[in-house]
Amino acid sequence: MVIFATYKKIGKVIKLHDKYFKPFISAQEIDVAITKMASKISEELGDEIPVFIGVLNGSFMVVSDFVKKYDKPCEVTFVKLASYEGVSSTEEIQRLVGLNQDVSGRTVVILEDIIDTGNTLEEIYDIFSEKGVKDLKIATLFYKPEAYNKDLKIHYIGIEIPDKFIVGYGLDYDGLGRNLPEIYQIKNTQRMTNIVLFGKPGAGKGTQAEFLKTKYNLIHISTGDVFRFNMKNDTELGKLAKSYIEKGQLVPDEVTINMLQAEVEKNRDANGFIFDGFPRTTAQAKALDVFLEDKEMDIAATIALEANDDTLIERLLERGKTSGRADDQDAAKIRIRFDEYNEKTSPLIDFYTAQNKFHSVNGIGTIDDITSRLSAVIDAL
Ligand code: IMP
Ligand code: MG
Repeated sequence: MVIFATYKKIGKVIKLHDKYFKPFISAQEIDVAITKMASKISEELGDEIPVFIGVLNGSFMVVSDFVKKYDKPCEVTFVKLASYEGVSSTEEIQRLVGLNQDVSGRTVVILEDIIDTGNTLEEIYDIFSEKGVKDLKIATLFYKPEAYNKDLKIHYIGIEIPDKFIVGYGLDYDGLGRNLPEIYQIKNTQRMTNIVLFGKPGAGKGTQAEFLKTKYNLIHISTGDVFRFNMKNDTELGKLAKSYIEKGQLVPDEVTINMLQAEVEKNRDANGFIFDGFPRTTAQAKALDVFLEDKEMDIAATIALEANDDTLIERLLERGKTSGRADDQDAAKIRIRFDEYNEKTSPLIDFYTAQNKFHSVNGIGTIDDITSRLSAVIDAL
């Protein structure tokens, strides 16, 4: 099995019927894949004159472009798989229509636009096994390895793609999209509720996140918790993080972002995430936006828990007595964290305000009161 090309992302979102599709594979990348596939097949078939068989409807574009790049004599024909009902009404049988040519003793190359589960391919193998061909080769422009569940050999693969519905370049969504010269991928429109909880140390982010996570069925990602877990277990990441946290400094963005990405990846089917303690800098917020966009996710709201410094210091010192957190036991160290917050984190207010996502609630009161204030914001989203 040979893979001829990879892809990168391009351009604008389109709508077909009720669904949205985003640009996925450019015409140029398709061209590269087909060019390489044609020259490889030509090389391997030597002097043999092959019969290229396109499986309609989807393959009309790839066959057309492919044979133009095939530099030796060849025959080209199209077939279609038509389903009809077998003896029992539940039994669906596929029949090949349009093959009015004798292919016995010939080298046949099936040209597919896409192989997904492999069901179609299985029918093709079945049907051609009775035709007495000399050699049967399968070539497909697109292949979804995660969806494929057959053992049948695929000899040539243009581009491997994830198991997501695509349109364009011959492929349709309910009749539309075949004429697009590039490939578009379906956009996930399911909306996640991703919340950033914002506030100085001691503002109650962790406490509130615990309540909100249950109430809205969200995954709570606390960078602090993950770091503390790593530090306690003395992992490499933990040792690294420790050296910064003990000085009252922020852990470098790169370390934090990688860790966070891993947490999101682990919970891809979640209703949403509560980010607590992240982002802490504008650079992190931008990196988070980029990362989420890549996953078709976004931040629904950033909610700040407001409280004055004296109240917060009191709370933190109180917490330090029982939690054993070194950074909570010393008022001077706490003030360093506040300064750090004022300098690096508070610019995020402007960042999220510009996106119309910034909200703030009074963080002083009973836990229940504060949860209600936060819920009012979330419910209104
Ligand atoms: P398979 O039989 O599951 O391998 O699927 C093959 C057929 O399903 C193709 O010939 C297409 O008609 C259709 N198909 C599979 N995946 C896609 C897709 O992502 N977009 C459009 N059609 C697809
Ligand atoms: Mg097809």
